[in-house]
Amino acid sequence: MGPIPVRIHLIIRIEQPIGGRLVEQSLLHDLLEQDKRVGRVGAHRNSGSVGFVGDDPAITDALADTISEFSLQTAAHRLKIPKEVSNSPTFDTYAHTHPDQRSACSRSPSECRPKQATAMDNARLSINDQEVEFPVTVGTEQEVGFDIRKLRGQTGAITVDPGFANTGSCHSEITFIDGEKGVLRYRGYSIEDLAEHSTFLDVAYLLIYGSLPTREELDGFNTEITRHSLLHEDMKKFFEGYPASAPPMSVLSTIVASLSAYYPSGNSEEEINLNITRLIAKLNTIAAFSYKKSIGQPYIYPRNDLNYAADFLHMMFAVPSEDYEINALIARTLDMLLILHADHEQNCSTSTVRMVGSSGADLFSSISAGISALSGPLHGGANTAVINMLEMIRQDGGNFQKYVEKAKDKDDPFRLMGFGHRVYKNFDPRARVIKKSADEVLGQLGINDPLLDLAKQLERIALEDDYFRERGLYPNVDFYSGILYRAMGIPTNMFTVMFALGRLPGWIAQWMEMKNDPNTRINRPRQIYTGHNHRHYVQIGHRAIQE
Ligand code: CMC
Repeated sequence: MGPIPVRIHLIIRIEQPIGGRLVEQSLLHDLLEQDKRVGRVGAHRNSGSVGFVGDDPAITDALADTISEFSLQTAAHRLKIPKEVSNSPTFDTYAHTHPDQRSACSRSPSECRPKQATAMDNARLSINDQEVEFPVTVGTEQEVGFDIRKLRGQTGAITVDPGFANTGSCHSEITFIDGEKGVLRYRGYSIEDLAEHSTFLDVAYLLIYGSLPTREELDGFNTEITRHSLLHEDMKKFFEGYPASAPPMSVLSTIVASLSAYYPSGNSEEEINLNITRLIAKLNTIAAFSYKKSIGQPYIYPRNDLNYAADFLHMMFAVPSEDYEINALIARTLDMLLILHADHEQNCSTSTVRMVGSSGADLFSSISAGISALSGPLHGGANTAVINMLEMIRQDGGNFQKYVEKAKDKDDPFRLMGFGHRVYKNFDPRARVIKKSADEVLGQLGINDPLLDLAKQLERIALEDDYFRERGLYPNVDFYSGILYRAMGIPTNMFTVMFALGRLPGWIAQWMEMKNDPNTRINRPRQIYTGHNHRHYVQIGHRAIQE
């Protein structure tokens, strides 16, 4: 069913959520509850959003001042509202009305209503004698940002923010993190709920298309994924060209980039959806083939009767000479790990995907760049680094206190891998789930991994230490995940590949959001130049050895 623009009257309500004046868009949600058309409108498959045309000019004029242009145009674009409608002065705002959000809420409808990123008081900045104002934008979870798009034009100055720790690069509806409280949600659903009840492809659909699929939609998505899991036979030659020692992340990144040579980048929604399906389906196969190549075993082809995680285990561990029995507990644990990694808003690799995509580069090239960004030890490569670190501590007699001291020593480059996070200043909620699962799964599999005990001891010592407490350094997702991968028989050099498999739907969702956002411009930060001022060219015969 296509999106339906609805003609509706608005009621405006004034709220003061964080001190500033915030004119809420309306009691639209409540009105829709009473509207006979709510079922049809709320069923909008991908975004769960509704566009509408206000027809009272007095109200629409008032709203025009308060609702951000971003929200309006994004809604119009998403809902494919014709340009002549969305550009008309009566097109005003939109709200989410997905039925899941209503039924999941135990509070009153107006409390439950998802809020809109909207403008409140302006922010004022004084530079010398000049005072400039910037609009303030507020997210649905009340995160506040100053919109500084006009800063350089009005003042000639730019902001400097190495590592972008204070910079919002976009508005996004995909993932919410509260780093202080240790909260992570995909499209409003808590990571704990998803890890317990959902499946990886269910979550992939949620992230990419905006709402949990119906049974029919999920079956269709599953079928499509399984049917595209084979690689073009010629691509096997790529694997043959790599040395056996090639890091699997390098192989993954380059082979994903090469997919654009096989499949046209595509511009229509249908073509892009087909490439999304191809990418999710084939990444599983590429990952397993890269492992088989590294150990010199024949490639094992995908099986359509297996789910995503089970199929990966089959392609990794089966050999043609004997049957391979998939362990259901391991398959479910892997599926859960993929869910936990599926998105994490604007992290290093996701920002890379968005940045590369902002130039108009195709999906495969953008994701390939994201895989490269993920490989570093401060990001996805940390799961490998944790196991290497624990192994090193074990071989050094298990003296974890010594390594805690090393990590605190500013003259020592050693860091406790798997500790700390840019956003979480509390326990990473993913680490909590993984730690609990590690205990259960290792117990059920009858595995006694000394590294698990070592990891727990290290965590205990670090969390009692003022250095870690003061800086809010807690175990992150990578601290315990490697222990689970080891228990599944996955070799250490494949850990970050597992992270990439999990993160793929998030990268895709973020790439799509970037592509569909009318505010997207090519990502092009500025700099403060600190090099030489203008110098005259010196002919080679006149140059001093040390200039
Ligand atoms: N061990 C010891 N000290 C640390 C650690 C650590 N793992 N992490 C941060 N610190 C200290 C750091 O030295 C600094 O101290 P001070 O204020 O005295 O200078 C303070 O804590 C803040 O650290 P930062 O480096 O400014 O923080 P950041 O936000 O730039 O970096 C991080 C975040 C994740 C890169 C960093 O915590 C780190 O290197 N951790 C180890 C690598 C790791 O586990 N990475 C995986 C991250 S989670 C999964 C993912 O995103 O891929």
